[in-house]
Amino acid sequence: MIKKFLGALILMFAVSGPAMSASAGYAWDRAPERITDLAALQNGAKLFVNYCLNCHSASSLRYNKLTDLGLTQKEIEENLLFTGDKVGDLMHVAMRPADAKLWLGVAPPDLSVMARAKAANLGQPGTDYIYTYLRTFYRDVTTPLGWNNLVFPNAGMPHVFWEQSGPTELTTVEVHPVEKDGQVQWFKTTTVVDSDGFSSVVSDEPLADYKGHASIEHNLKYLDSAKEVEFSNNMADLSAFLGWMSEPDQQFRKQLGTWVLLFLAVFFVIAWRLNKSYWKHVK
Ligand code: HEC
Repeated sequence: MIKKFLGALILMFAVSGPAMSASAGYAWDRAPERITDLAALQNGAKLFVNYCLNCHSASSLRYNKLTDLGLTQKEIEENLLFTGDKVGDLMHVAMRPADAKLWLGVAPPDLSVMARAKAANLGQPGTDYIYTYLRTFYRDVTTPLGWNNLVFPNAGMPHVFWEQSGPTELTTVEVHPVEKDGQVQWFKTTTVVDSDGFSSVVSDEPLADYKGHASIEHNLKYLDSAKEVEFSNNMADLSAFLGWMSEPDQQFRKQLGTWVLLFLAVFFVIAWRLNKSYWKHVK
């Protein structure tokens, strides 16, 4: 009895344990470092205003803060302002949050500090998350929006850059156990989701004497490589902009930090020399 129970327990662990670790999530790509690249940040700002502000707000940022990126008031007014907004206005959303919730199922979060929030959660720069998120949308007919995402499965956001990114094909290779009549048999299953969002299993092989872990590997292929290069480049600019927006003064803060350290170093030498000369006669 006890033996049987222990056996079942071990089996349960063998089956569920590895499967759980396999779902730990899609690894984030590294976003190219562009926080000091003004041209990249300007392009990011333009993409943000045109493609994201329809749904998301950025309520801690005023349009005129964009002059820090080298844009003039006139350029902001002519290229980036929604009709009716003024340069001193905060970046509000075009759509009412209640409508957004109705149409999309979820209200789009404010993006002002999204890059910082993501970094705080998982210890990798939040811009890496955003860069990966924006580049891992794929067509999927099984979801309500017809789109899915690799880092954020079943996200309630459509792929806004589907025209720019071109079609994709997702191949997933999963090594997983299947339990049948008390026996565990491992399988390697390859699934392809085509550019129209239809999924099909292309191979399903049993693995003899497999002793490893469950695993899942995704490979998202952009079918138009010329489009992919430009799209990825734009997403790097956009992620950098979201990083800047979450902390517009981060460059200044880093520079200030260097000066403070330099001052402390100089002050230490002065204090040390003074200390020495004060105590010279006492000893
Ligand atoms: C059609 C409306 C819409 C547009 C346009 C849109 N989003 Fe979203 N976005 C959403 C919704 C809705 C969510 C919440 C998804 C959820 O929680 O399932 C979301 C979530 C997010 C998240 C959070 C993801 C997470 O892990 O929590 C980020 C980051 C994001 N959007 C970035 C962007 C960027 C950058 C753009 C511009 C390219 C953009 N979005 C354009 C609707 C939109």
